[in-house]
Amino acid sequence: IADVKEDIDHELVSREQIDSKIQEMAARVSDDYRDKNPLVIAVLKGAVNTLVAFTEALSIPVQIDFMSLSSYGSGTKSSGTVTVRQDLSADVRGRHILIVEDIIDSGRTLAWLVAELKRRGAASVEVFALLNKPSRREVDVDVKYPGYEIPDEFVVGFGLDYDEHYRNLESIAVLKPSVYQGEQA
Ligand code: PRP
Ligand code: MN
Ligand code: MG
Repeated sequence: IADVKEDIDHELVSREQIDSKIQEMAARVSDDYRDKNPLVIAVLKGAVNTLVAFTEALSIPVQIDFMSLSSYGSGTKSSGTVTVRQDLSADVRGRHILIVEDIIDSGRTLAWLVAELKRRGAASVEVFALLNKPSRREVDVDVKYPGYEIPDEFVVGFGLDYDEHYRNLESIAVLKPSVYQGEQA
């Protein structure tokens, strides 16, 4: 990849829009979780940018942990199975958990994680997801703090990747289909 801008078709969500949605949800979460000492769990790698901006915008004390989950591999379609690349370091038993995700597509990653955290004894589990592609949903997930609904286009940036590239773009953009043309179905 010589020039990232060459691979981008158009911007879909600007950095201003990203920041304003994150501020809005951080204000709601700060109200809802006052005195609850929540554990904020970011789903790596995609949620890392959202996690940083979101937790900086909170006005309450929180703890932070990470779980690295993969459902995509190197393609543009979810594989349907969730792989744990790296687990949490915290014990979630009795904790109020807020999961931070970059995007909900089939819903499989989140459905698996919510069930797993409840199985481990979390007191409550809620979700903030910056982006949502409802047209691709295969599994139902309850999202208390929803971000932007987007159409069924493959997006990258602000943590989101295609084959591990483009995560460091400052806003969310649609990739030119030519970039992933010829990919194995
Ligand atoms: C992406 C994205 C979400 C998940 C959404 O992660 O960051 O975690 O897929 O898709 P789903 O709703 O169909 O499960 P990915 O597996 O690409 O790993 P990454 O975050 O490391 O890029
Ligand atoms: Mn992810
Ligand atoms: Mg990915």
